[in-house]
Amino acid sequence: MIYDFDTTLDHRKNGSFRWDLPGMPDDLIGMGTADLDYTCAPCIREALVPVAQENCYNYRQRSDEYYRAYEDFYRRKYSLDVKREWLSSVPSTIGAVRMALGIYAKPGDNVIVQTPVFNPIRWAIDGADCNLISNEMKPVNGHFEIDFDDFEAKIKKYHPSVYLIVNPHNPTGRVFTEAELKRLVDICYSNGVRIVSDEVHGLITYDGNRFIPLLALGDKAQEIGIQIMSLSKGYNIMSLPHAMISIANEELRTPWMRQIQAYSFGYATNSFAIAAVTSILKGEADEWMDALHEYLRKNMEEALAAINDGTLPLTAYRPEGSFLLYVDCHNAGIGTKHLDRFFLENAHIHLDDGLDNFGPEGEGYIRINFAVTNKVLKDALGRIRKTFQNR
Ligand SMILES: Cc1ncc(COP(=O)(O)O)c(C=O)c1O
Repeated sequence: MIYDFDTTLDHRKNGSFRWDLPGMPDDLIGMGTADLDYTCAPCIREALVPVAQENCYNYRQRSDEYYRAYEDFYRRKYSLDVKREWLSSVPSTIGAVRMALGIYAKPGDNVIVQTPVFNPIRWAIDGADCNLISNEMKPVNGHFEIDFDDFEAKIKKYHPSVYLIVNPHNPTGRVFTEAELKRLVDICYSNGVRIVSDEVHGLITYDGNRFIPLLALGDKAQEIGIQIMSLSKGYNIMSLPHAMISIANEELRTPWMRQIQAYSFGYATNSFAIAAVTSILKGEADEWMDALHEYLRKNMEEALAAINDGTLPLTAYRPEGSFLLYVDCHNAGIGTKHLDRFFLENAHIHLDDGLDNFGPEGEGYIRINFAVTNKVLKDALGRIRKTFQNR
C-alpha cells in the first residue's frame, strides 16, 4: 500500500500545540512540539470507528487480545519475553515517570539524569520534591556521548535513589548502544540505584541503530528496572493517551501496582486508546511504520545536508532515532538564549529553544522537528538559509 505523507491536515485550525499558536504570522511553520504532521496508519481509524459506532463508554477490561498483542509485540520486535503479570498501563509516559518517582524516591532524594533533558522530566522530578543530579552529555566528534566517569562519581557522591534514563535521548537524538546500556545498568546495580526508563522515542531509529528496551538487557536490568514505553511518538497517537509499563521484579512491582489501584488506572481505561494500541501491537501498522521511516529518513538527510553544508553557521547533530534535529547555534552570532525568538522573527519558524526547553545544558542549541511534509521542510530550510544570507 502507498501511504501519503505529502498531504497533511491544516494543523493551524485544529488546536495543534505546534501549529495553532495565538498571535503568530499567517505563514508560520511549526517545528516545535514532538508530534507528526501525518495522518495515522489506516488501521487506527479502522480500530476506532467501531468504538465510536457503539457509542458506549462503560468501564471496560483490557481484553486477552490486548495482553497477547502486548506480549507478542515485545517478543517480535525486541526478543523480550514480558510476562503478563509484569504489565500495566497508565494514561501518559510522563505520568508514569512521576508515579515511579513517587514510589521509588522519597521527597529530598536525588535523581540522576542525562542532560540536556526534556523539561517535563525536570518538572516530574521537581513535582516529586526530588533533586535533579545532572550527568551532562558531551559532544565528541559530532556525536553526544555519556560521561561515564561523571555518572559513576555522581552516583557515589549523591546516592540517588533513581536513575531516570531517556532512551532514545531527547533532545540529542542518541540511541544508546547495548554496551552503553549494560555499563549504565552495571553501575546502578552495584550502587543500589533503581532505573526508570522513558522509552517513548524507541520506535523510530535510523542507520542500523537499534533501540533496546531496558528489560531486554538481562537479569540485572530486570531486578532494578521500571520500563515505560508508549506508542504515541511513533504512531502519532498522542491524543489517545496510553503508556505501557513493564516491571519484572515483584518487589518493585508490588508498590507500583498498589499505586495503579490507588489512582484507579486498572479499570478506568480509554476504550479508544486500547483499540488503537491493540491494533498497532498486533502489527497492523507495521507497513505504515516502514514507510514512515523511509519518509523521515529522507527528510532528515535533506535537513542535515542543508544545515551542515558548510555555509551556514549552524551544526546539526545526526539523530540516531526519533524525528528531532538538535542544532548547535553557538557560532551563529545570535546569542545563546531564547533562540526560538530569532527564528520566529526572521524566518517565521516556531521551534524549540534549548535553554527554555531542555535546561542550562541546552543553552545555545535549538531543536527542530522534521516530521513535516517534505514541501514544508524545503520551505523551512530555504527560510533558514535566507535568514543567514541576509545578515
Ligand atoms: C522524553 C519524553 N518523554 C515523554 C514525552 C511525552 O510522552 P507522554 O505524552 O506519553 O507523556 C515526550 C514528548 O515529547 C518526551 O520527549
